[in-house]
This record gives sequence, C-alpha cells and structure tokens, in this order.
Amino acid sequence: MISDIQKKILQLKKEKNAVILAHSYQAKEIVEIADETGDSYALSVAATKHDCDAFIMCGVHFMAETVKMLSPQKRVFLANENAGCPMAEQMEPEMIQQLKEKEPDRTVVAYINTTAALKTVCDVCVTSATAVKICRQIENNKILFIPDCNLGSYVQKQLPDKDIKLLQGGCPVHASVTMADLEAVKKRHPDALVLVHPECRPEIAQAADYVGSTSGIMKFARESEAKEFIIGTEISITEHLQYECPDKEFYNLSKKILCPNMKLTTLMDVYKTLLNLDNGKGFEIQMDDELIKKARVCIDEMIRLGG
Ligand code: 13P
Ligand code: SF4
Repeated sequence: MISDIQKKILQLKKEKNAVILAHSYQAKEIVEIADETGDSYALSVAATKHDCDAFIMCGVHFMAETVKMLSPQKRVFLANENAGCPMAEQMEPEMIQQLKEKEPDRTVVAYINTTAALKTVCDVCVTSATAVKICRQIENNKILFIPDCNLGSYVQKQLPDKDIKLLQGGCPVHASVTMADLEAVKKRHPDALVLVHPECRPEIAQAADYVGSTSGIMKFARESEAKEFIIGTEISITEHLQYECPDKEFYNLSKKILCPNMKLTTLMDVYKTLLNLDNGKGFEIQMDDELIKKARVCIDEMIRLGG
C-alpha cells in the first residue's frame, strides 16, 4: 500500500514537472515512486526521452552527472548529496593521461562508474550491460580498460583476440565476495542457479551460471524455467526479484553485497529535494559547459556503439 509520504512525492513531482530516476539497487519504496527504474545504461538513455523541468536521481553521483551531460539544459538533482560510488573516485585524470602518453596506441575504455573529469581523458564509456558489445566493436585491438579490473577481466575472457590492459580498481562491495561465500550458499541451495554481476571477482564469474548487468540478471531470472537462484549483486535485486516472482526462490550470494551508498537515499530525501527544487537548497548537479562538452564525447560514443 502506498504511504503518505509516497503520495506527497507523487503529487509534488506532478506539480513541479519533475521525473524521478531510480537505479535498481534502490529500496522498494523508492522504486515504487520512480518514473524510470533500471540499470545505469537504461537510466541514462531513458532520461533523454523525458520532457520535464528537472530530474531527481535516486542513485549515486556519477549517474546524476551522466544525466546532466545528456540533458544539459535540464536541472538535475541527486536526492542524497552524500551518495557517491567509491569506484568512480579511484583514478585521477592525470594518471590516465600519463598512461596514455606511455601507450598512445591503446583505446581508453571507461566504465560509466567514473567521474566526468576522468571521462574527459577517455575514448568511450561502457556499462556492465554493454561492455562486451562495445569493446567487440572497437576496431583497435589494444584497449586500456578502467577502473574495474573484474569487469575488464570478464570482457577479456569474452574477447580473447583483444589485448586489454587492466588497472587495479573496482567495486569494493562486489569484490568482497569470496569463493568461500559461494561454496557456503551453494551447499545450502545446491539446485539454485548462480547469477552474478561482472564486478564480482573473476573466479566467482567463472563459477556462475550467468554473468550480466543488473537488468540482465533480472531478465534471466524472470524468464528462466528454474525455480531457485543465488543472486550475486546488490541485495536489493534479490528482494525485487522475490517480490516480482513469488513462485521462485531467491537467495543472496552474500549479505556483504550491500552498497552503503546506494542505500543512503530515503523517501524523505526525495520529498525534500522536490520541496527545495526552486530555493537553492536541493543538491543540484553543476557542471560547466566545457566539462560537459569534453566528457560527453565518450558517452555519445557509448550510445552510438551500444544502442
Ligand atoms: P549496472 O550497470 O548493472 O546498473 O551497475 C551499476 C553499478 O553501480 C553496479 O555496482
Ligand atoms: Fe559503486 Fe559498487 Fe555501489 Fe555500484 S555497488 S554504486 S560500483 S560501490
């Protein structure tokens, strides 16, 4: 049943012509009031199709930046200003610039979980849903893949003809899962299929029945004939799937896969952002035109190759 605060949010967003975007890692009560829900690729593309005055991103900072870059004339707010992705902050543009000077013949592929500043020195972005497809289409066989070495290693396995250089970055949440965690949950649920995000360690991806993005995992589970699944990504996905498919059983690969940043956003944050849309108190993404122009190049390239 819809709560009072959810009703107020739905009313306010109508009055203010705002669109709420929620990453699938958000809690159920946030997903319920969102206009668009999905993985990072789906959200960035969906945002371009709305004719609204403002977007409110329930997710992490780089996602709001991506929406701003794709719709620079619109106002974009991050519902909780402290929600950042630690992976996005792991590498500085100067460091990548130096590597490019050492190996200028590599195409620099950036996971979308990066800051806009870092994107300015990269050639093309990818999301977990599009990484293999886009890297396959890049004519150059020599790639520098940043920052997630687990996703990069997964792409390398799918594309053995490519020479993909990796750096030691990645998602601390997904990388926390070990083979011991997998063995323990497999022992409890031996018939369950294992579905994991490619941000997990390579040995986990290797042992899984399916590796894919957030939306890929959800689609696989919905459409599969199987009845039991071990979910190797943020624990909200296990909950969303359990709610959507009550005739199936979903188990967390590990309760450690809880992204504290994704969980910062509350209904009160969304409500307050809507209330404060016009008085300067909301957390609005501010980016100068030059930064948008430079960082957008690799996002446009992602949409061109991934669409
Ligand atoms: P998706 O690209 O699957 O949405 O993942 C985003 C993310 O932050 C994963 O941790
Ligand atoms: Fe970043 Fe990992 Fe959280 Fe995704 S799950 S937002 S990659 S810290």
